[in-house]
Formats: sequence, C-alpha cells, structure tokens
Amino acid sequence: MDSLPFHGRVGIVTGGSRGIGGAISSLLAKEGGTVAILGLPEDRARAQHLASRLNGAAPRLHFYETDVGIYERCREAVAAVLEEHGRIDFLVNNAGITRDHTVRKMTIDEWEAVLQVNLSGPFFMIKAVLDAMLERGYGRIVNISSVVGVSGNFGQANYAAAKAGLIGLTKTVAREVAKRGITVNAVAPGFIDTDMTKSMPVQAIESAIAQTPEQRLGKPDEVAQLVRFLLDDKAGYITGAVYNINGGWYM
Ligand SMILES: NC(=O)c1ccc[n+]([C@@H]2O[C@H](COP(=O)([O-])OP(=O)(O)OC[C@H]3O[C@@H](n4cnc5c(N)ncnc54)[C@H](O)[C@@H]3O)[C@@H](O)[C@H]2O)c1
Repeated sequence: MDSLPFHGRVGIVTGGSRGIGGAISSLLAKEGGTVAILGLPEDRARAQHLASRLNGAAPRLHFYETDVGIYERCREAVAAVLEEHGRIDFLVNNAGITRDHTVRKMTIDEWEAVLQVNLSGPFFMIKAVLDAMLERGYGRIVNISSVVGVSGNFGQANYAAAKAGLIGLTKTVAREVAKRGITVNAVAPGFIDTDMTKSMPVQAIESAIAQTPEQRLGKPDEVAQLVRFLLDDKAGYITGAVYNINGGWYM
C-alpha cells in the first residue's frame, strides 16, 4: 500500500460525492490518498455510497457537510480536516451549480447564486487552505472551470462569468504562491456526462454532441485523470495553466 502514489497525501475535493468530483475523489482514494469530500447535506448519502463501492479505499474518504458559498463554513471544514488528518496537500475546487437563463430573463438571485458558489466558493476555499500549505511549503490546487468560461455560452452569463473569473483567480494565486512550492491550475471541461448535463434539455445535449469533433460526451473519469496528473508531485513545474478537455468542442 505504501507504494500507492498518493499514499500519505491528504486533500479536499469540494462537491466530491458525485459526477466529476466523485470520479476525482474515488481515483485519489484508490491511489492511496485521504480525501475530504465537502458537500451539501444531500451529498452525505452519496459520499457514503461512493465509499461503499471502493472496498479497501473506503476508509480514506471522509465527508464534511460544507456550503462552499459561505466563508465561515469553508474555514470550519479546513480546520476540521487539519485537526483530524494533520495536513492538506491538495485542494480541488469542483463544486458548482447552474441557473441558466438569457440575460434578459436571468434574475439577480440566479446571477448571485452562481457567482457565490462557482467563484466566491473557490476563493473562500483557497483563502482557508493557503496558510497551512504555505507553512509546509507544498500544495497542489486545481480549479474546475469550464470551456464556456473561455468561449461564452447562450443562456449562461452567470456561469460563464464565474468560470472565466475562476481562470483569473487561478492565474493570480499561481503568481502569488509560485515561489512557495504551491501550484495552482485550472481544468476547463467541455460537456461531461454527469447529473449537471442530464438536467439540460435533450436537444441541447444532442446539439453539443453534434458540435464535438469526438461526437460524444466526456466521462467524469477522463477529467479525473487530468486532475490527478496536475495533483502529482511530478507536476511541480506546471502552474497558472488552463487545460482544455472537451473532445475538440473548443480549440
Ligand atoms: N458536467 C459538465 O459538463 C461540466 C462541464 C464543465 C465544467 N463542469 C464543472 O465541473 C464541476 C462538477 O460538475 P458536475 O457536472 O460533476 O456537477 P454535479 O452537479 O454532478 O455535482 C456538483 C456537486 O457539487 C455540489 N455542490 C453544489 N453546490 C455546493 C455548495 N454550495 N457547497 C458544496 N457543494 C456544492 C453538489 O451537491 C454536487 O455534489 C462543476 O464546477 C461544473 O461547473 C461540469
């Protein structure tokens, strides 16, 4: 077991009980990592279900009920992880929501809710973990942005703005902590087969697939493999980068 690549590593995956986050936390736990899944109350049972499918790796998955849109909750969760596991090597800011409408129909609440979770959430989490990483002179941070943060997308002004902002946040924090052993990168997935895309109208999915050169949706595990690569010790010279993973939808 000591030979597993993430043996002894401890980290956080927000929204890590299902979809892309679920694939990331499972992969890291299977590779020996201890993973704190931060999520909403409804994510607790899913996190338990995920752990139940992991056999030997299950004891390395831990659930912390945390709304990442509230700074105080983020601070409490990080303090609990440090108290219980002693260190934080990596942070994956994955939790995200959509509230789609064209700008004319989008309510202020819809705008604010998406900015709060998808942009303020990662800022809160980074702020909460940074001192612990700086103290040890080591850290890996990956922010899950989206292709639409770069391309824009009809009906997603709030989501695209938050995901574009996340790229700016990634590059800025990367510059601020580069000398201190901490890397900060973003991954920008295209259309991935998760509950988030299942909630889209069938026609919108069919059209997305038709416009994707690979002619299919991506799989959560394909995104997880890329994130895992960026979290590896060996990825130490990669920082401030944005990785597309979209089957060619945007190049
Ligand atoms: N699915 C896609 O096609 C796609 C494409 C590009 C980017 N993304 C991004 O990838 C990430 C994961 O997407 P997914 O498709 O797996 O989504 P999902 O909806 O399947 O899962 C998101 C998870 O985040 C949790 N969450 C939501 N709000 C939260 C909050 N305030 N605090 C804590 N947890 C919260 C949810 O409960 C859920 O467990 C998101 O940031 C999303 O924007 C997804």
